Amino acid sequence: MAIKDSILKTLTESRGSYISGEELSASLDVSRAAVWKAIKTLRDEGYNIEAVTNKGYRMPPAGDAITEASIRYALPPELRSSKCFFYDTIDSTNMQAKRLLLSEEIQSGSAIFANHQTAGRGRLGRGFFSPENGIYLSVIIKPDFDISRSVLVTVAAAAAVAKAIQDVCSQDARIKWVNDIYVDSSKVCGILTEAVTDFESGQIESLVIGIGINTSTEGFPEELKGIAGAVDLERAAATGNIPASTNAKSLLAAEVVRLTVEYTSQIAKASPGEAPAFLDIYREKSMIIGHDIHVFKGTYRADPTSELNGIPAKAVGIDNDGGLQVVYENGTEETLTTGEVTIRL
Ligand code: BTN
Repeated sequence: MAIKDSILKTLTESRGSYISGEELSASLDVSRAAVWKAIKTLRDEGYNIEAVTNKGYRMPPAGDAITEASIRYALPPELRSSKCFFYDTIDSTNMQAKRLLLSEEIQSGSAIFANHQTAGRGRLGRGFFSPENGIYLSVIIKPDFDISRSVLVTVAAAAAVAKAIQDVCSQDARIKWVNDIYVDSSKVCGILTEAVTDFESGQIESLVIGIGINTSTEGFPEELKGIAGAVDLERAAATGNIPASTNAKSLLAAEVVRLTVEYTSQIAKASPGEAPAFLDIYREKSMIIGHDIHVFKGTYRADPTSELNGIPAKAVGIDNDGGLQVVYENGTEETLTTGEVTIRL
């Protein structure tokens, strides 16, 4: 192993603690000058190695917040050149995405990240509770497919989030059509896709896919208790698969962005009516196929506690456009493309 790799391994394994140059040179049996040269190379490669006189070198504790550095390390090389924007606190990453789209040139695949939102937006005009230390992000996609297929964007994002939670946190995430993500029967993530229209042409020029993932339910308001859950970042950290200079939260956020970009790019590759590749994952991760549900249509607000609202039906499948195929009690079949579905458990 090259000297710099051995030093990187040692500092990563003792992340947060200082190791003197003397100890490093003795344990690797190399000169102090060789240690210094290797540290310099690692820093030039982007590793954040701190040096303090009389203490030595250390890799700072990764912490659990999303920072510019922690995300950049976690993103795959192909996305490192896309624009990324980081905010500790912002009103809403979706609103910020829309403001940025008006003020600068932004390419498809760019993303906005925050640890906290003061005015998180949910579907149907609702708010989205966004306390500190959550994962709030928006991915900007410039559609290269007919806009009539844009429901598939939301479907792609749901498949991306479920797969990322499974891969990074080893948790079995399930999708409630269209795009709520559940772990152990609690909602851990919501997705809100918004369109940005070009004022002159009236065409949709960008889609903003907003994704909010709970990392804890501490301090959640009473009305969300029993509904909201959180992903288990400690479990992710315990896998030992978190690379140096990042953290579990950033790794999950980066994986969500990577897969969202990959899956949405599959839409244009499938002809209209043909299933994009990610639909297999979406179907496999669906928590409602084969289940009895209540269908809430139009402007109805889903109220799972009310027996008066919603039409009883059975969810039987997801079609190639992301529509939910249902059969009502009288045998009538329908494919739902919009609306709110509540499951009768
Ligand atoms: C829902 O479940 O109603 C959708 C919630 C979507 C929340 C995310 S958090 C990041 C992005 N910014 C927002 O203001 N909303 C979305």
